Amino acid sequence: MPFPPAIEALDLVKRFGDQTAVAGVSFVVPPGTVLGLLGPNGAGKTTTVRMMTTLTEPTSGTARVAGFDVRTHPDEVRRHMGLTGQVATVDELLTGRENIRMIGGLYGIRRRDLKNLGDQLLHQFSLTDAADRPVRSYSGGMRRRLDLAVSLLASPPVLFLDEPTTGLDPRSRSELWDVLRGLVAQGTTLLLTTQYLEEADQLADNIVVIDRGRIIAEGSPLHLKQQAGRASLVVTVADAADLESARGLLARTGAEVYVDAGARRLTATADGLDDMVKVAGWLRDSGITVDDIGLSRPSLDDVFLMLTGHRTDDTEEVGA
Ligand SMILES: Nc1ncnc2c1ncn2[C@@H]1O[C@H](COP(=O)(O)OP(=O)(O)O)[C@@H](O)[C@H]1O
Ligand SMILES: [Mg+2]
Repeated sequence: MPFPPAIEALDLVKRFGDQTAVAGVSFVVPPGTVLGLLGPNGAGKTTTVRMMTTLTEPTSGTARVAGFDVRTHPDEVRRHMGLTGQVATVDELLTGRENIRMIGGLYGIRRRDLKNLGDQLLHQFSLTDAADRPVRSYSGGMRRRLDLAVSLLASPPVLFLDEPTTGLDPRSRSELWDVLRGLVAQGTTLLLTTQYLEEADQLADNIVVIDRGRIIAEGSPLHLKQQAGRASLVVTVADAADLESARGLLARTGAEVYVDAGARRLTATADGLDDMVKVAGWLRDSGITVDDIGLSRPSLDDVFLMLTGHRTDDTEEVGA
């Protein structure tokens, strides 16, 4: 490897009494990439992040951040990382600008540098207009952005984000995603935990799926989706009278065809683009007018269901 990994988890284990929260987790995050640590509530995400950021000691195993071991060089680890937790850490009574001044002061950043850096971060996170208002008047999305801005004051090369968008509305969520993409473009390495499959799909280069403290799958989003099975070919015909002949054409690929007559839609398993191109040609040659034709890949939701036997929002029922 040309560079040492930005983050390494080496067989991390954490037990609380006789309960094992993290049961031997290992992965590597190359510099400048995003790892999504994906799993339902209680999977062990926060505990894993806390071990990697020196907030709690592993029962066994260890982690390295920017090449420094959390057990032997915790101060160096802290110097090279930022952390935004599940709960915002900014002071409600202070304004956004005052929070930045206070935390920057704690980091020992010089006054003039801090002013410039603070202005730049407030601008980058679209908080310039709100900078002089107390944080208690901020929306959830603004608080998360300020929290992130504050954790970037020390310009850490490695950033840990524990469920950065949980509880945010869709718009604030996608704004935060844009900010995170910007950081990665500047070379920051991100490890983010999430319960949202879409978030991992949007941001992560690689995904580690954990459930009950163990890694149950890993790979790129596309790789994981491919594991969930074949794609489907979905065709909507313009005229319901063509459904039967369209079904005959789709069946030629050897697939079983499902017809939704009300929606004038046919669905068949497909081996990707080749099947789609073949079927499109047959439809054209037989003069059938098509409203829509497309390939639908299994979603990460399907992957999760396949791997764990439950959807991410069904965790209540797991123990039952
Ligand atoms: N301080 C603690 N003491 C006892 N059990 C804990 C503690 N922190 C976490 N746990 C347990 O460890 C498991 C994993 O928790 P956590 O890492 O918070 O999961 P996640 O962040 O994926 O929701 C859960 O069963 C949780 O109840
Ligand atoms: Mg958590």
